[in-house]
Amino acid sequence: MPWIRRGQAALLLAPMEGVTDAPMRALLTEHAAFTHCVTEFLRISQVVLPRRCYPRHAIELQTGSRTPGGVPVIFQLLGGHAERLALSAALAVEMGAQGIDLNFGCPAPTVNKHDGGATLLKYPERIEGIVRAVREAVPAAIPVSAKLRLGWEDPAAIYENAERAARGGAAWITIHGRTKAQGYRPPAYWGPIGALQKSLGIPVVANGEIWTLEDFQRCREETGCEHFMIGRGALANPYLPALIARELGLPAAAVPTAFPSSEEWRALLTRFIAISQPLSDNPAYALRRIKQWLRYVANRQPFADFDRLKRLGSIEELQALLPTLQIF
Ligand SMILES: Cc1cc2nc3c(=O)[nH]c(=O)nc-3n(C[C@H](O)[C@H](O)[C@H](O)COP(=O)(O)O)c2cc1C
Repeated sequence: MPWIRRGQAALLLAPMEGVTDAPMRALLTEHAAFTHCVTEFLRISQVVLPRRCYPRHAIELQTGSRTPGGVPVIFQLLGGHAERLALSAALAVEMGAQGIDLNFGCPAPTVNKHDGGATLLKYPERIEGIVRAVREAVPAAIPVSAKLRLGWEDPAAIYENAERAARGGAAWITIHGRTKAQGYRPPAYWGPIGALQKSLGIPVVANGEIWTLEDFQRCREETGCEHFMIGRGALANPYLPALIARELGLPAAAVPTAFPSSEEWRALLTRFIAISQPLSDNPAYALRRIKQWLRYVANRQPFADFDRLKRLGSIEELQALLPTLQIF
């Protein structure tokens, strides 16, 4: 059961809608390092989605809610209607989900306009009500967690929102150290995460702007946390989770260097293509994902062949370029 407990370190792969889908989760959890991953959000709006939608959203429901590497997958729901979320959570569990996470952080205007994600940060009592309704709808053995930003505009909102989530029965909370108004602008503010980690009584997972081992070390020092979630940093450097896991004393394959060489990148991309082929019948899929993935790399450091890669029109062209692709 994928519980997160005090005294037991954890490293979670962040949910990233349109990015950390099943093939990417499979790749990034192939060599352990992550102890958990969270699906992209499934939005519950006007109706409870029918059964077929759940395994489509998380193919891992068909394999014991674990990635091919054996890492537990937590199923994330987003919405503002407690009863519909509770019914959806119960269905997800019936279909095989082993843990439910509730999204109270998404800043996308379309989501927020329809009473979902970060909008709920303005209504602490609704956060408590939603967590409680979902908690009561699924068996006690299934953890229900919540993922929050610091607030809508006021970062101090996290204190009441976190308390409410805990009172509603959250097994743990993840805090992305920014308000909705701060979007994704650096820095992330880890201070309140540290304060809540000490006072809340349930585990607190620290999240936001961990790009390097040094960022992780600073975050651990500033927050005192033993649970961390990383998203973009794992895409920009797929070796980062292993480096962090080893610092946390978690089992993780040794990585040869702090950052993959061009040759190792080629192996990672080749592996991603192989993983995604049986999972997507769209021939453009792997190329699109790889371009998006490598943009996270190019945004962080010089990337010799990114311009060439950006212009590729087919997976065949990518395969032709791969043997000589230079990352740096
Ligand atoms: C493209 C993108 C999609 C995201 N989708 C989700 C999502 O579906 N659910 C969620 O809770 N957070 C989502 N997030 C937020 C991340 O989980 C994470 O909190 C944020 O990226 C900060 O962590 P990082 O600095 O390690 O990337 C998304 C972030 C990005 C950049």
